[in-house]
Amino acid sequence: MRLWIASSTALALFVGAAAGKPEYHTFPSLRERAAIQDAWTAKRLEAIPSLLKKHNVDAWILSQREYAEDTVFWSFKPATSFSARRRTLMVFHTNTSSLVGARNPLTWIDNTPTVWNELRDTLEAFDPQAIALNIDSFVAFADGMHAGELELLSAQLGTKWMERTVRKPMLAVEFIATRVSEQLAVYKDMQETIWAMIAEGFSSRIITPGKTTTSDVVWWFREKMQERNVTTWFHPSVSVFRPANSSHGSSQTIHFGDMLHTDIGITAFGLNTDTQHVGYVLQPGEDDVPAGLKAGLRKSNRMQDIVLKNMQPGKTGNQVLTECLEDMAEENIAGLVYCHPIGDWGHAAGSLIGMTNLPTGVPVLGDLPILPQTYYSIELSASHFVEEWNVTIPFQQEEDVAWSDETEQWEWVWGRQEEFHIVDAAASVAPGSAPSLVVQ
Ligand SMILES: *[C@@H]1O[C@H](CO)[C@@H](O)[C@H](O)[C@H]1NC(C)=O
Ligand SMILES: *[C@@H]1O[C@H](CO)[C@@H](O)[C@H](O)[C@H]1NC(C)=O
Ligand SMILES: *[C@@H]1O[C@H](CO)[C@@H](O)[C@H](O)[C@H]1NC(C)=O
Ligand SMILES: *[C@@H]1O[C@H](CO)[C@@H](O)[C@H](O)[C@H]1NC(C)=O
Repeated sequence: MRLWIASSTALALFVGAAAGKPEYHTFPSLRERAAIQDAWTAKRLEAIPSLLKKHNVDAWILSQREYAEDTVFWSFKPATSFSARRRTLMVFHTNTSSLVGARNPLTWIDNTPTVWNELRDTLEAFDPQAIALNIDSFVAFADGMHAGELELLSAQLGTKWMERTVRKPMLAVEFIATRVSEQLAVYKDMQETIWAMIAEGFSSRIITPGKTTTSDVVWWFREKMQERNVTTWFHPSVSVFRPANSSHGSSQTIHFGDMLHTDIGITAFGLNTDTQHVGYVLQPGEDDVPAGLKAGLRKSNRMQDIVLKNMQPGKTGNQVLTECLEDMAEENIAGLVYCHPIGDWGHAAGSLIGMTNLPTGVPVLGDLPILPQTYYSIELSASHFVEEWNVTIPFQQEEDVAWSDETEQWEWVWGRQEEFHIVDAAASVAPGSAPSLVVQ
């Protein structure tokens, strides 16, 4: 098994001290995790009144029913809550007067008209001038008010209050995007764990060339997550790349000389990770990865440098994307950039920097500002001609970063891949059974 020296000198600042052989972490019991998560949530909730003030609103109404929750609900619910109940109506507000100031949010869990009577009374007493509702046709995270719920809310509040309602998509986006500093240490352990999982999955312990299929490895990853007491937010993928061919999707038998790729993430503590790495299955007698493949990985590393250099908070995702594409053109790098926020969701709230189907700009979501308080998944693919294989293939990488106030830049949460995971299985294959070069 190889070590990851995740930093060369130029990158030391980005990489931090984290590199080294990744180890699995053992996470605390569910009971302990719930307490940890609730402390994070409390800290995030405390910030809501100032967020409301920032967006010039006095109140924020979230109204939802069991199984028809507002998207924002999942970011403030207690760890032991698995859905809204009955009608769960909440009013976040900026009013610190004694009548309503004590509780924030004001919460009703009821399915009788009482909830509407009390809501109207509260609004009368409190008299908010601007009331935010989560309605937006483009930003999903700001569109959590269900259509039927809005109909009823409008009828119950009447013109007086409905005229004061406003749409502030960045309110929901910023709340959902916000990480608290305490989360980073846990996120780092989650990240190291996924690295350890990929390192083990892409090794001769798990892969026997000529026998193991990509699906076998995918399901091994799933079972391994179960064993490590974490879950996931998407079914992982494993694909192979070969001289004449490459495959995504249908399962393939892994052979000597294959380049492997995985896209994989885990979920724990209400946080999600997203990682893409590459591996290589050494041919018998081979002791290193073909130079052309290594050059492809280096090219994607260079793209990572370019993205992190341009990705200053406050810029929009589309601005950053344009700058990245210019820098890539200058260095003759062909490739795609498609980075996204990550945290409460795998594809979390905030600005997108490209998408695979929108490689030069993303309407609306790409025009939001890059927020420093969220984590980002730096997802990209360098297109590289591999001389040994006489073919151009994508070198896809994905690693998560967090903004550091100290260094004033984005830093890899655990590290980034600069060397291939190696499947060195030649020794484990019985003499005579080694397949001849299996590529078509
Ligand atoms: C806060 O609510 C009180 C009633 O409880 C109301 O008198 C006051 O005007 C409100 N303050 C603001 C700033 O809206
Ligand atoms: C997973 O959880 C079970 C049950 O709490 C525990 O016995 C086991 O040690 C945990 N495994 C890991 C790898 O954390
Ligand atoms: C590529 O792989 C697919 C699936 O295994 C196979 O059907 C096809 O013939 C291969 N193409 C080449 C050019 O080898
Ligand atoms: C490389 O591939 C191209 C087609 O993509 C083909 O025309 C060419 O003959 C190949 N070169 C070698 C050396 O096989």
